[in-house]
Amino acid sequence: MKRAVILASGNGSLAQAIIDDAQLSTQIVALISDRADALVLERARLSGISTHVIEMKSNRQVWDREILDCVNNLKPDLVISAGFMRILSPDFVRTFPTINSHPALLPLFPGAHAVRDALAAGVRETGTTIHWVDEGVDTGKIIRQVKVSILPGDNEVSLHERIKEVERGLIVAAIKEVLPTLESRHG
Ligand code: GAR
Repeated sequence: MKRAVILASGNGSLAQAIIDDAQLSTQIVALISDRADALVLERARLSGISTHVIEMKSNRQVWDREILDCVNNLKPDLVISAGFMRILSPDFVRTFPTINSHPALLPLFPGAHAVRDALAAGVRETGTTIHWVDEGVDTGKIIRQVKVSILPGDNEVSLHERIKEVERGLIVAAIKEVLPTLESRHG
């Protein structure tokens, strides 16, 4: 069975959807968060998944090294960034096949405030994208995208919640799509 590591920073509803999918033929070997108070850590523990907290350091390179070493020890075939609000180092993304879920139709609205930026731009629709992580910010090859309409009266919270309803299914589908394409690196 292939091995996956989830990275997440906050609530963790995407991580929960991945953990809960009974048909996902991958072993979630660990969940890593950059925040000790993230609800997602509790979600993982309740599902019997081991957790690691790697908080950002004043020296960014120390953090880069720490997360790379931690993931390396977990020997994943796939890393899944599901609501992880940090940029991974070039070394990291060259070492581990990594996918990310983003709450906008990339290449539109990359970065940490995608939902807010879409509302501010006055577009009628936005969406969600699952993509490979490369050395840029939300620039990697797109795996799957789904559109979500922006409704009159939407605010950042209501729109983000509707996007996440779609995102949860999309990330699970994307994992199932990419897993068979990955060489098992660790038997
Ligand atoms: C998701 O919408 C995900 O796309 C976004 O954080 C949310 C996590 O929700 N990630 C980013 O914006 C990364 N740039 P969750 O904590 O309920 O899983």
